[in-house]
Amino acid sequence: MAERQKVIAGNAFHTPEPGAMVPLVDCAIAVDSDGTIQSVTTPPDPDHSAILDAAKVANALEQLPPDTYLIPGLVDLHIHAPQWPQLGKALDVPLDAWLDTYTFPLEVKFADHAYAAEIYDDLVTTLLSHGTTTAVYFGSVDLQANVILAETCLRHGQRAVIGKVAMDHPETCPDYYRDESAEEAIAQTRKFIEMVAEMQSGRPTLVHPAITPRFIPSCTDALLGGLGALARETGCHVQTHCSESDWEVAHVQNRLGQTDTEALANFGLMTDKSILAHSNYITCGDMDLIAKAQSAIAHCPLSNAYFANSVFPARDAMDRGLKIGLGTDVSGGFSPSLFDAARFALMASRNRSSGTNPSLAAAERGTAEIPLSTSEVFWLATKGGGEAVSLPVGSFNEGSKFDAIAVKSGHSTSGFRTYSTDTYQDIFEKLVLTADVSSITRVWVSGAAIDHL
Ligand code: GUN
Ligand code: FE
Repeated sequence: MAERQKVIAGNAFHTPEPGAMVPLVDCAIAVDSDGTIQSVTTPPDPDHSAILDAAKVANALEQLPPDTYLIPGLVDLHIHAPQWPQLGKALDVPLDAWLDTYTFPLEVKFADHAYAAEIYDDLVTTLLSHGTTTAVYFGSVDLQANVILAETCLRHGQRAVIGKVAMDHPETCPDYYRDESAEEAIAQTRKFIEMVAEMQSGRPTLVHPAITPRFIPSCTDALLGGLGALARETGCHVQTHCSESDWEVAHVQNRLGQTDTEALANFGLMTDKSILAHSNYITCGDMDLIAKAQSAIAHCPLSNAYFANSVFPARDAMDRGLKIGLGTDVSGGFSPSLFDAARFALMASRNRSSGTNPSLAAAERGTAEIPLSTSEVFWLATKGGGEAVSLPVGSFNEGSKFDAIAVKSGHSTSGFRTYSTDTYQDIFEKLVLTADVSSITRVWVSGAAIDHL
């Protein structure tokens, strides 16, 4: 076992399971030199004082102030890195027009590597400041720009999954922004996987490559099948968009006579390391296929409000035990904050349950399902995301990586405030619903504090 490196002590919350927050009052989290959690103790535990004393003597104790709460780092399962410059704008048209009018012309600019370096540095540091310790990124078509994104994550210490976007279909991708051929896209994807391994050789892996067919409409059958074979060969992560909107679902039905999920499974793209963005229109049969494959869903409620024409059936998917976490879908979603994603997931779920049309009788208005709770959306943002991405992050358990953020109450520009009348549960709920970027005072990935903060 690697040696103990430090102990972080203070008040913490986590949700190892979706249903309930577990308070860790006055806890001590011992972290080894690999950034792995060795032990989590609280005052009643017999070795708690000894762990604290030993850390004090070794000058390796970081004691958090009483107004500050430690939570697991946030896991964002779906971000488009090259869409960062258009965050908050250009959301006035449906998905297909948005891609053609705004998004492809922006993403192609990342073949300019100086531009890519500048934007990606800003993106990665901003997401870390917002508490995103694991980021799952779609890059762009240009190979080298994705290498720059991987280097940027390594330089700043952000855990990441990154994919070179593969898109070769001549009828749906513009001439100026697509892979030359299926073979070329597969070769470049293979090259990217090799380069990500090479840039980390001899050190612990922080960045993982992902096989990334943009979505079925952008890819030929040859590309989808070839990437499926590459997924089987390499065991890498896979990420794509699945059953996102009326237009997209109809496009795939017309072309292949299948749902997205069925088609992805047939192309070999549904593995236990696949992350399917959105998945709003998955059928019961699709849910069974996803469960069987142990694939995961990135629920992106903010983006869904613009492009999906519906609310994702999160309660149903959670009840079936599917792997699910949250995504910002920058820039289909207008916020870089996974706290915002959690809050929108909660709101969307409540609207879905109660319904939205006041001219209908209450009993006919909504689905009447149990809406997501605060602890459930927090679980989605942390442990659910960790499980979805098959990485040991998202909770404070022995053997997990110490990816964490410290959140301070009472900062003058934040609504996160606590009073002596608040219980621990109250403070947890307030944190999840009101903390913002100014409340986040410290961020750790694999036990290392991020230094630009
Ligand atoms: N489907 C294909 N590409 C995209 C994208 O960039 N964003 C979203 N939201 N959906 C997509
Ligand atoms: Fe997306």
